Amino acid sequence: MYKQVYILLSLQKVMLIAIPVILFACNSNVNKKMTNDDLLAYCAAQAKATANSDDTDNNMPVVIDSGKTAWTKNNIYNWRSGFWPGIEWYLYESTKDEYWKKAAEKSTEKLVGVIDTIVANHDLGFQFYCSYGNGYRLTGNPAYKKVLLRAADSLAKLFNPNVGTILSWPSRVKEKGWPHNTIIDNMMNLELLFWAAKNGGSKNLYDIAVKHAETTMKNHFRPDFSTYHVLVYDTATGQVIKGVTHQGYADNSMWARGQAWAIYGFTMAYRETKNKEFLQTAINAVEIYLKRLPKDKIPYWDFDDPTIPYAPRDASAAAITASALIELSTLCTDSLSAKKYLIAAKDMLTELATDKYLSKEKNHAFLLFSTGNKPSNKDVEVPIIYADYYFIEALLRMKKYQ
Ligand code: GLY
Repeated sequence: MYKQVYILLSLQKVMLIAIPVILFACNSNVNKKMTNDDLLAYCAAQAKATANSDDTDNNMPVVIDSGKTAWTKNNIYNWRSGFWPGIEWYLYESTKDEYWKKAAEKSTEKLVGVIDTIVANHDLGFQFYCSYGNGYRLTGNPAYKKVLLRAADSLAKLFNPNVGTILSWPSRVKEKGWPHNTIIDNMMNLELLFWAAKNGGSKNLYDIAVKHAETTMKNHFRPDFSTYHVLVYDTATGQVIKGVTHQGYADNSMWARGQAWAIYGFTMAYRETKNKEFLQTAINAVEIYLKRLPKDKIPYWDFDDPTIPYAPRDASAAAITASALIELSTLCTDSLSAKKYLIAAKDMLTELATDKYLSKEKNHAFLLFSTGNKPSNKDVEVPIIYADYYFIEALLRMKKYQ
């Protein structure tokens, strides 16, 4: 009898010790932090599911609407059409798998019709540099180079020398009464012009890009280095008429993605020109952004939305900024700042890599919670293709620079 009780008590003891150990082991698996390589593998798996779904038309995945699990596709003329081919090129770079090269070529080449239409906006840079640009960088295909040079010449047609910037939205000249309008996003499209000037295009393309960046640096920033979304200029005199918003909360607010474009754009402009004023502008833009970020480093869609902390987030702004900061950290001459920006980028990516922001089994995107155009109630806290593009770009940059 005593012996039986003793055995039972001993068994209980073993269970008391064993159960927590087993639970801990399971939990530590669930919570295991994903490494950079794990995240790249995750991106490849998610994208494979997208690539394997219907690809019989000329349309590109752009957004997963609220309550849906499949990508909504837009035609090639939409400004977001270059990001999906760009993701496929990054996956080819990351995996060296011919599958991605073939897939990227197929998607990229769908875009060629865009340059044969009237130059409708500044977005040619996003559309062509992300698709053909990455394709040319990775394959050296001479046909891609030709397309890129034509796209750069088309983009340059929107430059107004009286103002010193590219006209971003020709369609809004009449629609909004914005004679010459330039948006901060337009900084991103200068990369195509810089590339073209170095790769057989006209030297004038370099001058246009520099002039656009100089004019933007002078006019687009408020005294605290937050940016206006849109600047409206007099077409003939080049005088600033007003600073307004289109996608932000208010004319004077800091729209998160706009600030991210400024940080990325001026970092890139410094890389291409070595003009120290551009570097300082990137730093000024990032300092106010970092200072006003919430603790988890993912911005609300607009830093001045009065409903914060209940306002929507914008994971795309976090991904764009993380990618820019990794590059900025390599360009900063001061090692303390370089370290600070790299750590900030890591923190942003770490937060994006949590179960809160990763799409995982919910859909085939990489990231949840991006906000495209809150004032129009379009694409609010949903997966958007450019968030995924800059996320994978940031992961690849982190891998390269570490
Ligand atoms: N025009 C680019 C954007 O919506 O951020």
